[in-house]
Amino acid sequence: MDKTAVVKVGAVASASVCALFGGVVLAQYIVAKKKRAGKKTKIIEMMPEFEKSTVHIKDPERVEQIICGLIQGGASKLQIITDFDMTLSKFAINGKRLPTCHNIIDNCNLITEECRQKLFKLKDTYYPIEIDPHLTMEEKYPFMVEWYFKSHTLLVEQRLKKDKLPKVVGDSDVCLREGYEHFFDRLQQHNVPVFIFSAGLGDVLEEIIRQAGVYHPNVKVVSNFMDFDENGVLKGFKGELIHVYNKHDGALRNTDYFKQLKDNSNIILLGDSLGDLNMADGVPNVENLLKIGFLNDKVEERLEKYLDSYDIVLVKDETLEVPNSILQKIL
Ligand code: TMP
Ligand code: MG
Repeated sequence: MDKTAVVKVGAVASASVCALFGGVVLAQYIVAKKKRAGKKTKIIEMMPEFEKSTVHIKDPERVEQIICGLIQGGASKLQIITDFDMTLSKFAINGKRLPTCHNIIDNCNLITEECRQKLFKLKDTYYPIEIDPHLTMEEKYPFMVEWYFKSHTLLVEQRLKKDKLPKVVGDSDVCLREGYEHFFDRLQQHNVPVFIFSAGLGDVLEEIIRQAGVYHPNVKVVSNFMDFDENGVLKGFKGELIHVYNKHDGALRNTDYFKQLKDNSNIILLGDSLGDLNMADGVPNVENLLKIGFLNDKVEERLEKYLDSYDIVLVKDETLEVPNSILQKIL
């Protein structure tokens, strides 16, 4: 090999070593930067809504990562799966409890006083079981079936009239969470599908969101719908019962809906019960799933469990500010 060839080979070799060394340093730098970025929860830190004392997060890095995925996916990949009672609707105002869909009927003048007392008694018996932190979902399950069976049987006995429902809802104290207009309107503007999956009463629920002006075409309601006879008198309920702890097979029962949304692989799930955590079970092709839970009642006893199960826990927060702030970043 002549001298110039040796010089050339030497130059190439040293350039390769340099490139290799440079590459390693660059890679180390990127890894270190990623690690640092992982520790600093930048997006969350940029959102003032997350500084509220109502917001509790066990693993901010995980939440950061999921929100990054949601932002990257944008509107076209997003879908919402949400509970209704005490999630989209308020739990209380100034300490005064507000009604669930069922409670709207419990409190109305379409039922007899005797029936009302029976429904209240059922609530006093079964609601503490619904929220008992010491019982598993499996243990609660049969009690929920019992509650719904007894409660719905009483409603059918009352021969409720379909055409009275709008007034009963209008006269009730039900109230959607602060920021609901923004929530629903924004999702509609961006054509994001909203699946409301409720163990409440579908007809009452639909009337609530219709009267609130947010029953947009992108909203689908799956719930317990009343079956009326030809005179508009309640004679039973349609389809399979949905109660608080059988929401895990919702996707299975609504395969056509979720098949259509197979590209909407990013999900924001909103709920208030531990049963709501299973609402996205069986949804095909999930990439990022952010679970936001409202903890309304028995906070001390239940917080730890909620923190273990929901990515973000909103304690006694009657607003949709946090979900809205996340939507603002995505849409
Ligand atoms: P959700 O799935 O939309 O939250 O609705 C279910 C809620 O309704 C759940 O918290 C239990 C409650 N409920 C009543 O308030 N009264 C009743 O009679 C029944 C059967 C359920
Ligand atoms: Mg609920």
